[in-house]
Amino acid sequence: MGSLDGRVAFITGVARGQGRSHAVRLAAEGADIIGVDICADIPSNNYPLATRAELDETISLVQDRGRRMIGSIADVRDFATVRATLDAGVAEFGRLDIVCANAGIAPLSLEQVPIETELAQWTDVIGVNLSGTFHTVRAAIPHLVAGGRGGSIILTSSTAGLVGMGGLDGGGLGYAASKHAIVGIMRCLANNLAAQSIRVNTVHPTAVNTMMAVNPQMMEWAANNPDGGPHLMNPMPVSLLEPRDISDAVAFLASDAAKYITGVTLPVDAGFCNKL
Ligand SMILES: NC(=O)c1ccc[n+]([C@@H]2O[C@H](COP(=O)([O-])OP(=O)(O)OC[C@H]3O[C@@H](n4cnc5c(N)ncnc54)[C@H](O)[C@@H]3O)[C@@H](O)[C@H]2O)c1
Repeated sequence: MGSLDGRVAFITGVARGQGRSHAVRLAAEGADIIGVDICADIPSNNYPLATRAELDETISLVQDRGRRMIGSIADVRDFATVRATLDAGVAEFGRLDIVCANAGIAPLSLEQVPIETELAQWTDVIGVNLSGTFHTVRAAIPHLVAGGRGGSIILTSSTAGLVGMGGLDGGGLGYAASKHAIVGIMRCLANNLAAQSIRVNTVHPTAVNTMMAVNPQMMEWAANNPDGGPHLMNPMPVSLLEPRDISDAVAFLASDAAKYITGVTLPVDAGFCNKL
C-alpha cells in the first residue's frame, strides 16, 4: 500500500536525472506515470540532453515497480505536442492527479561568446524553463479540474530562484530569471486553484548530482565564477544532493500528507538559501 496508490502523475524531463528519480519514486508509491522528454540536444546548451535509450530505461524502471508508464518524446517548448501527449496519456490512464514540471536546461558561457550565442542561450533557457513550465501546467490544469479530486502541482525551481545567483551572461541570467518566474506562476496558480483543492508548490534544490551540475563546463564555471564557489558550498556537510533527495520532497508534496500545503517555496538545499 503506497501513499499514491491509483494516482497518475505527469512528469517532464523524465528520461534521466531528477525527472527519472521522481518517476521511479512516485511509481514506488503506487502512481502510474505519463512522462515526456526532448531526447535531443539544444545547440546553445553546453552539455548533452537525454536520449531515447535513457527514456526507455526510465520506463523499464517504473515497470519494475509494478506500475505503468507512457513515455514520449516531446519538447516542452512546443505546447501543442505537450498537450496532445498529455491528453493521450490521460485518455489511456483515465485520470491525472500530480504534475511535476521538472524539465530544464542551464546553458553557460565560460568566456566571452558572440552576442548571438548569448542571446540564443537566453531565448532557449527562458523557452525551456519558463515557457515549458507554463505549457506543462496549461495542458494539465483542465484535466485536474475535470477530475474533481484536487491535485498537486510541483514546479522545479532552484536555489537560483530564491537568491541572486546567475553571473552576468544571458544563459546564467536567463536561468535565474526563469527560476524566479516559476515562483510567480506557482503563487498565482496556488491562489486560483485552491478552491478546487489543487495545490501548487515549488521545490528549490541546491546542486544535484545530475548531468546539469556535473558536466565539464559547469564544474569549470563553479570553480572560477565568483558566484560559483559558494554555489557548491552548502552549510550542511554535503556538496551535491542525490536526485532521490529531491524526490523525497516531491513525493511528500504529491501525497495526502501535504494536503493543506500550497503556495510554498520549499528549499531542498542543505541550508544554502538561509546562509549569511
Ligand atoms: N542539477 C542541479 O544542480 C539542479 C539544481 C537546482 C535545480 N535543478 C533543476 O532540476 C530540474 C531537473 O534537472 P536535472 O538536475 O535532473 O538535470 P538533467 O539535465 O539531468 O535533466 C533534465 C532533463 O530535462 C530534459 N529536457 C531538457 N530540455 C527539455 C525540453 N525542452 N523538453 C523536454 N525535456 C527537456 C533533458 O533531456 C533531461 O532529461 C531542472 O529544472 C533544473 O533546472 C537542477
